[in-house]
Amino acid sequence: MLSLAILISGRGSNMENILKAVKKNKIPIKPVIVISNKPDARGLAIAQKIGIRTEIIDSNGFKGGNWEYDSKLVSVLEKHGVTPQNGLICLAGFMRIMSPEFIRHYKGRIMNIHPAILPAFPGLHSQRQALEYGVKYSGCTVHFVDEGVDTGPIILQSVVKIKDNDTEESISKKILKQEHKIYPKAVKLFAKGKIKIVGRKTVIS
Ligand code: GAR
Repeated sequence: MLSLAILISGRGSNMENILKAVKKNKIPIKPVIVISNKPDARGLAIAQKIGIRTEIIDSNGFKGGNWEYDSKLVSVLEKHGVTPQNGLICLAGFMRIMSPEFIRHYKGRIMNIHPAILPAFPGLHSQRQALEYGVKYSGCTVHFVDEGVDTGPIILQSVVKIKDNDTEESISKKILKQEHKIYPKAVKLFAKGKIKIVGRKTVIS
């Protein structure tokens, strides 16, 4: 069976949702470790309560995209059996850029959730970017991670309507609800071997 690692930096609601979905929907994947780069991430206590091991690898002092930091991640992941042969790594609000070395090591096995319909509004504060731009629809995207920022092959997307009276907070809430729907679906598709990467696209069978 595949081994699942989830990387977080904060609240951990996507992590919680994936862990619960794995249990409930019998997704054929074994969650083995939750790693946070922030010692005070709220999601750590949630993971422990669910019964998943946690580790903190503090990124304080390490710039994003830094291999010295990411090699520590690889050591911890491999210690828990998350390998390039049998692992899936879900970034769930993990607010760091991964190094090219890390991405190459786990090629095609790292997923991310982004709170916008990519390629629109990559990077930070996507919900605010969408509101300020004045789009009528936004949403979320699950994608594989490649060496760019939020540029990897798209797996699933879900759209939400933006109303005139929406705020950054209300949009974020609507989008998060959709994130919780599509991220577990993407994990399930991957675990069942149903996602093929073809060039910069994915084909789902
Ligand atoms: C989510 O909205 C996720 O899409 C976003 O951070 C939030 C984490 O929430 N990720 C990014 O912006 C990545 N660029 P969570 O910790 O409750 O899952």
